[in-house]
Amino acid sequence: MNSVLSEILNTGATQTADGKGTVKVHSAVSVAEGHLLQKLVRQVDPTMSLEVGFAYGVSALFICDALNVRKGTQHIAIDPNQYRGQWGDSWEGIGIANLHRAGYGDIVRLIESPSYRALAELERSGQHLDFAFICGLERVMAGGRPPSFYSFTCPNCQALYHIVKVEAGPETNDRELACRSCGAPLPSREGSLVLKYFLLRKAGPTRRRA
Ligand SMILES: C[S@@+](CC[C@H](N)C(=O)[O-])C[C@H]1O[C@@H](n2cnc3c(N)ncnc32)[C@H](O)[C@@H]1O
Repeated sequence: MNSVLSEILNTGATQTADGKGTVKVHSAVSVAEGHLLQKLVRQVDPTMSLEVGFAYGVSALFICDALNVRKGTQHIAIDPNQYRGQWGDSWEGIGIANLHRAGYGDIVRLIESPSYRALAELERSGQHLDFAFICGLERVMAGGRPPSFYSFTCPNCQALYHIVKVEAGPETNDRELACRSCGAPLPSREGSLVLKYFLLRKAGPTRRRA
């Protein structure tokens, strides 16, 4: 683990952008969420990753630590508040300073814009993505309990998913979910919790019966 991330996790604080002071870290992913992110990143092995919601850079530090850096590797971070805070609290440039301090300055691209604009612009430009993490729309928490995630296999085609359960928020859209591999319907809720599916492995070729 890089020393910037381990210092944040050990102290609960981060250096200011100029390195002259410290501030308490808040609004960051938990250690369990960070480790889940790293597990997913290692499985997907992305060249081009993206996150929405950068803040002090904690999730980005977890993600960049797990990247297999090679030619073309880039982590795009979208957040309109890194310096200016016009969409909420400003993060005073601390997130991007943390990524530079950890040695990831060359692979991180910060887009200071709200996600609905930045994502539309990336799509327009034909940007390819291998992995995306959206942080900030709904809390990855289940009623104050630790985040709940587990593996799930599509009963129809055996495609493998990670499921994360999150609390439903006002923006939750109860649309029908379908397996990305075979199109079979998938449950979208468990009680009051919404199920998010992260495809890990598509179904292999169908085995023929003897
Ligand atoms: C929970 S924090 C992100 C924490 C970060 N992922 C981490 O682990 O350190 C949510 C972030 O969403 C950002 N945000 C707020 N409105 C946004 C928008 N419209 N588009 C993108 N990011 C936004 C906030 O500035 C804040 O940094």
